[in-house]
Amino acid sequence: MDLKSLVRDIPDFPKPGILFRDITTLLRDPEGLRYTIDFLAQKCHEAGITADYVIGIESRGFIFGSPLAYKLGSGFIPVRKKGKLPAAVHSIEYELEYGMDCLEVHQDGLHQGSRILIVDDLIATGGTASATAKLVQKIGCELVGFGFIIELRDLEGRKYLPDVPIISLIEY
Ligand code: PRP
Ligand code: HPA
Repeated sequence: MDLKSLVRDIPDFPKPGILFRDITTLLRDPEGLRYTIDFLAQKCHEAGITADYVIGIESRGFIFGSPLAYKLGSGFIPVRKKGKLPAAVHSIEYELEYGMDCLEVHQDGLHQGSRILIVDDLIATGGTASATAKLVQKIGCELVGFGFIIELRDLEGRKYLPDVPIISLIEY
């Protein structure tokens, strides 16, 4: 299936000069949605990835991470932006284009030695995925891979990620 044809390009969003890759058109397509999750799961199997938990990064990482976890027979753990999770958290700060942001995960969600697959809809600069990887590794978990629907190759985000399998389904 031509997944790329289901992604909509929106010029000048959220700022002038940015071509935004919009996945809502893929999500609303029943066959496209099913194929995306099945294909991601297949690529995980091919890469030899087995995970205790899939971590989804807020917010679009939740959309793909949760059905992937179901399909792989793993649990799902959300990594959220600062102040959203109700129980005690581990946090990590990371740099944005302008300023800093912070990601958090519940302390009782992750344990030393848990095998973790990190999922998000898209990798651009790699800042978000790299910070999530550091958070997971700081806790002592074993990072077993990354799964993205879209990879913006020109931004070379994957070079900031640890040396584990990095799966992406659509490249620009
Ligand atoms: C987008 C996207 C990734 C991140 C990628 O999320 O969903 O999480 O940016 O960018 P990076 O590789 O340069 O870090 P955003 O922060 O827009 O949040 P959202 O999913 O809630 O829209
Ligand atoms: N599309 C969606 N999310 C994004 C993009 C994009 O092109 N770049 C950074 N986050």
